Amino acid sequence: MPPAEILIARSSIAARVRALASALSTAYASTAQPPVLISVLQGSALFTADLMRSIAIDMAVDFISISSYAHSGSHSGVVKIVKDVEIDLSDRDVVIVEDIVDTGLTLNYLRRSLTERGPHSLRTITLLDKTVRRLVPVPVEFVGFEIPDVFVVGYGLDFQGRYRNVGDILVVRDLARLVNEPDLLVGSLWPRRGQRRQPT
Ligand code: IMP
Repeated sequence: MPPAEILIARSSIAARVRALASALSTAYASTAQPPVLISVLQGSALFTADLMRSIAIDMAVDFISISSYAHSGSHSGVVKIVKDVEIDLSDRDVVIVEDIVDTGLTLNYLRRSLTERGPHSLRTITLLDKTVRRLVPVPVEFVGFEIPDVFVVGYGLDFQGRYRNVGDILVVRDLARLVNEPDLLVGSLWPRRGQRRQPT
């Protein structure tokens, strides 16, 4: 049995991202100023890039980076901004771009922090939503896929900084095993390092 299997194939992701981009283009077609997408690094980098390319209206993008998620399963809710946005958000229509909303603690913190900057509106788009894991109620206006309580990697989502460059979203069968063997998925995804041809 492979250690991970495809939960959402790249073709389904691409189709859903195009539909989300179309929904955003319609929702923000007549705002006073172009909307500002705020991409939450690192996980939503791929999603943001693909989404932006399909958005058919004028828009701006900025990036925010917050302290990383504890993979232990417990989550204190204490989140720290390590790289802040540079655009002045006052009176702007702001869209937070998330890779995944899990307990909701990160998004709840982000929403509070961004609300303090006086945006005209603040909404969230997430590629994945694990609603069954929610600890705090938090509004999420645009959702790509609702997924069950599983651990996923790929399409920007990582395990300890790995596997972000997988094009599909994979579900990890045995997270405890991956914790002990972080290389676990490499063999089934890519040729072994030792078998790679040397560049000439
Ligand atoms: P929350 O604060 O519990 O909602 O966590 C959100 C963050 O947890 C995401 O931005 C991800 O970085 C991380 N996360 C939650 N579930 C997963 C997963 O299944 N795979 C990878 N990262 C995850």
